[in-house]
Formats: sequence, C-alpha cells, structure tokens
Amino acid sequence: MTQYKIPVIPGDGIGPEIIAQGCKVIEAAGERFGFDVEWIEYPHGADHYLATGELISEDTLKELSNYSAIYLGSIGDPRVAPGVLEKGVLLAARFYFDQYVNLRPIKLLEGVWTPIKDKTPEDIDFTVVRENTEDFYIGIGGRAKKGVSKDVLEVSRSLYSAKFGLDIDTDSEEIGYQIGMISKEGTQRVIRYAFDLAEKRKKHVSSVDKANVLSDIYGFWREEFESVASEHPDVTTDFNFVDAITMWFVKNPEWFDVVVTPNMFGDIITDLGAMVQGGLGLAPGGNINPEGTSMFEPIHGSAPKYKGLNRVNPIATIWAGSMMIEQLGEKEAADAIVSAIETNILEAKVRTYDMGGSAGTSDVGDEIARIVLDK
Ligand code: IPM
Ligand code: MN
Repeated sequence: MTQYKIPVIPGDGIGPEIIAQGCKVIEAAGERFGFDVEWIEYPHGADHYLATGELISEDTLKELSNYSAIYLGSIGDPRVAPGVLEKGVLLAARFYFDQYVNLRPIKLLEGVWTPIKDKTPEDIDFTVVRENTEDFYIGIGGRAKKGVSKDVLEVSRSLYSAKFGLDIDTDSEEIGYQIGMISKEGTQRVIRYAFDLAEKRKKHVSSVDKANVLSDIYGFWREEFESVASEHPDVTTDFNFVDAITMWFVKNPEWFDVVVTPNMFGDIITDLGAMVQGGLGLAPGGNINPEGTSMFEPIHGSAPKYKGLNRVNPIATIWAGSMMIEQLGEKEAADAIVSAIETNILEAKVRTYDMGGSAGTSDVGDEIARIVLDK
C-alpha cells in the first residue's frame, strides 16, 4: 500500500474544523483506492504565536521542504494585528517554497446556485493562474515624514534578488509607498505554466493587467505574455484590464479557459470568481511549485466569528484536498472526491447554512466521506 506523509497546518479560526473534514475524506479515498496517509500536524497560527512568539521559523520551513505537499486550513486571528500572521506564516511559506503558481479553479458544480442569472456549469468552468511570489506582494515599502530621508528596500528570492536604494525628499506631511516588482524570470515561468495548462484544456489564455495606467510593471508583463504566446501558436489569447475582467467574469464567464494574472489582481478577481462559482465555501486553491513543495488551502479565510461552531462549509477545503492528492499522483481518488462533493450537493440532504441547509461542518465531511466509500 502506498504510504504518504503529509504535513497539515490547521491554523486559525475555522481552520481546525474544516481541515478535519478534509483529512477524513482523504482517508476515505485512501481506503477505497489503496493508499494510507500519515498526517504530521504543525501548530502554526495565532495560538502558537501568542504562546511562543514564533510565526514560522526557518528550521520548520526547512523541515517542511522535505515533503511535496502541505495541507493548510486558514491563517488570521483578531487577537493579532492584521497582516502579522498572514505575512509571517502564509506568505512566508509561499515565498520560502517558491510556490509561484496560485491555482484557483472557478468551476460551478452541478446543483450549485450561482448569483449569475442563466449561467450553467457549462458556462462557468475556467482556471485562474495567479502569480504568487511577486508584484505588490513582495512586501517592501515604507513611510517618510516631511524632509529628506533614505531607505533601502530588498527582496531576496531563490530565483533572484533586487535592492532599491531610495533618496526621499518630500514636502508632504507624510507619505507611504510600496514597491511592486515583477521579474522576467518570475513572469515567464507563471505564464508558461498557464499556457501548458491551456494546452490540456480549451487552448485559450486570457491575460490580466492594468497596462493602461501602471505601464512600467504591467507593460512588461504584457510583453512577456506575448513572447510566451508566440511559442504556442495553437493557443488563442486575449488581454484584459483588471477592471474590465471583473465585468466579463459576471457577464460572460463562458469566454474564459485559463486566466493568468499578476499577484494582487489575482487576489481580487479570485474572490469574485469564488462568488461566481457559488460562494467562498466552495472555492479551493493550490500554491504550487511544480518541482518542490506545494501547499493546498481553501481561498476563504479563517472566519473567526464561526470558530468552533461547526457551521461553516468544509467543501472548499475538501476540494483543495482533492487537488493535493491529485498532485501526489492519486488522480482517480481525486476525481472520486470531486464527484462525491457533486453527489452530496445534488442530493441536497446534508448541506451547511450557506447552501440553504442546517447540517454541521462535520456532517458534511461525514457524508462526503461516506459517498467516497460507497461508490
Ligand atoms: C488569499 C488571501 C491572502 C492573499 C492573504 C491572507 C495574505 O487573501 O489567499 O487570497 O492575499 O493572498
Ligand atoms: Mn484573497
């Protein structure tokens, strides 16, 4: 029997309760398809930070890099200032493992209600490939008060590093600034990933940018997109300004196959995408390094107000778990999980409040695990 060791970080808020359902369903799939999973639990998140002062250490990250997949619940807690855990744990892991693709399928499952009138599962089935290590997420910036000051900002990646020396002179009372940066290597690799994916799908790639205003950074993105596109003459393409694509996601979702986007716009448009596919409770994602350690998580956050209530929808996390085992090579088991999610939704008996039901988080996990085993 194949044996997998998978690190799991339940995290904050609803994280532990949803991740428990994901593990349960993967174990059921293992029972049916002949593999076994040993979960290695890591405590990182708010409680651990408040108790020890540690976000996630270099040693822990190094240890985690021995595995090819990590299963993550959610990170974020109102007891800790906004951004501390998100940057110190989640983004730290994405950057450390160089998970340069954030893969977010936007797929309306059969039987799910979408707020978009007259659109069906046939119309809503595309994948967003969000760049996951650059752009305004590199986290360098600062504040300066009136007068003359200096700042040195650095970004260091395994792929490259960059250093900005700033001489600031302002007569404003105070300014805040943030540097967004993309690199040729970083842009090309994520766009290549998108084209390779499109080759296996409907052979269409849509690019997202704001090259009409932020022309240095996103004009560069566009050039690299065109250069990679020229290597794929059989794939059709289009360019979209980010403001316009939010409109097209709602009006004509059927136009899209693979959408490739810089990091920050990708963050924004995938929350919209999640709603188009029926809500945040249904939207999974994967932080992918095709040659290294990937990390799978729902798109939604830690929803602290629902913590411990056994109320939220675990489907996004269960689906993310399916993406994870697919990446480990268990394609049949992964498909069986998505199909069990679909059956659960179509049967409409055991569903959480967001889908109009009254079942608990663990009831939905039990039910999907039962369907996986039952088939
Ligand atoms: C997401 C989240 C994160 C992001 C936050 C929590 C850092 O919103 O995964 O979309 O902005 O990437
Ligand atoms: Mn987000």
